[in-house]
Amino acid sequence: MTISVPQVEIKKGLDEVYVKKTRISWIDGQNGKLYYRGYSIEDLAKHSTFEETAFLLWYGRLPKRDELSKFKSTLVSFRWIPDELVDLMKRVPRKAHPMDILKIGIAAAATYDPELEDMSSIANIRKAMRILAKAPTIIAAWHRIRNNQDPVEPTNDLDHAANFLYMLNGEKPDELSSRIMDVALILHAEHGMNASTFAAMVTASTLSDIYSAVVSGISALKGPLHGGANERALRMIMEVGSPENAESYVLRKLAKKERIMGFGHRVYKAYDPRAKILKEYARMLCEKKGDMRLYETAIKIEEVVLRELSRKRIFTNVDFFSGIVYHHLGIPSDLFTTIFAMARIVGWTGHVLEYWSENRIIRPRALYVGELDKKYLPIDERCTSPEERLEFIGK
Ligand code: SDX
Repeated sequence: MTISVPQVEIKKGLDEVYVKKTRISWIDGQNGKLYYRGYSIEDLAKHSTFEETAFLLWYGRLPKRDELSKFKSTLVSFRWIPDELVDLMKRVPRKAHPMDILKIGIAAAATYDPELEDMSSIANIRKAMRILAKAPTIIAAWHRIRNNQDPVEPTNDLDHAANFLYMLNGEKPDELSSRIMDVALILHAEHGMNASTFAAMVTASTLSDIYSAVVSGISALKGPLHGGANERALRMIMEVGSPENAESYVLRKLAKKERIMGFGHRVYKAYDPRAKILKEYARMLCEKKGDMRLYETAIKIEEVVLRELSRKRIFTNVDFFSGIVYHHLGIPSDLFTTIFAMARIVGWTGHVLEYWSENRIIRPRALYVGELDKKYLPIDERCTSPEERLEFIGK
């Protein structure tokens, strides 16, 4: 029997497929603009804080002073992680990637949450706050453990971003570093239906718990085509080493059809507005450190890539300059994607909460183009021609 294959369009990568309506953010890809709940990312980066932005993204409006103060103190109270979780992390191989530790940490934290199975809105938002508050503690604790140092306890007298740098480096950060870290978290908090947000939403659509949805988001974000690009972009800039090497390096990669990390975007067909802000912070931090080499090399790489690819609507994205910023904040490159994740917990959980308000399990189709009604042969009658021989998968 042969099946009549229906005439359907396969939307590769779900390009231009809309899965829900949202009021959380809007990306104007043609003009390189980004809005969180109607506020431009430029205004939020200039005037807001990560905690205030998280409140805005979750609740849909800017908080009043007393609301923000209560929101922040609640987040602070959720920062601590159980000693057993620290012990668990001490048992993991030191070479583990921090994104894998974050998955383990969030999944383990779920088992301590008394409201894990409570799917009421208030319980779900409290769980989202616990995850948001604990992620930096898990990441910083892992960095200390893998360096055979004791984790640094969270403080309750530093804001979210500054507390992370304190737990990571064991000393309170200066004003500029705190502010730049805070803005970097604002810039990475939310970005519509990107791969990791969609992954979180697919998990949530089955009415699994919000911790599981975040673990799905972390897993998707790890990939080099998504959040993993920032770590690789800095590695590339360091590998190029100087502005003089940029042209030949980029042309060689493009000739081999290799992708340049930190460039291109499914939605932005213009310069990523977040990259503009991070580019300026990268310049400031390099100037402050008295070493412009990384920045000047990055600028030259960008110049060549834009000259070669802007006609294909490929421009700089959020991941190109963020690595230089984090590097000069004293953050090791294999932690960069975990910083992206600790901010994007807001976007992942925000979209999950919004989707749950009109939930429907996400279940697309795949178009079958295989064979049908094949005759089952006893094992000794199954001859395979040499070209059919499969690479034997057993050991
Ligand atoms: C993030 O979705 C989001 O919002 C993500 C994000 C967020 O905040 O959540 O913004 C964060 O993930 C930013 C992107 C980080 N990734 C990278 O920097 C990795 C490099 N970029 C690419 O791999 C790519 O641009 C993607 C994955 C970001 C987008 O891929 P698309 O939209 O599926 O585009 P494509 O793979 O179909 O490429 C179209 C063409 C291809 O050439 P042709 O085969 O048509 O000749 O553009 C080329 C690609 O080869 N191309 C690149 C390129 N990106 C696309 N060529 C060289 N270098 C690149 N970076």
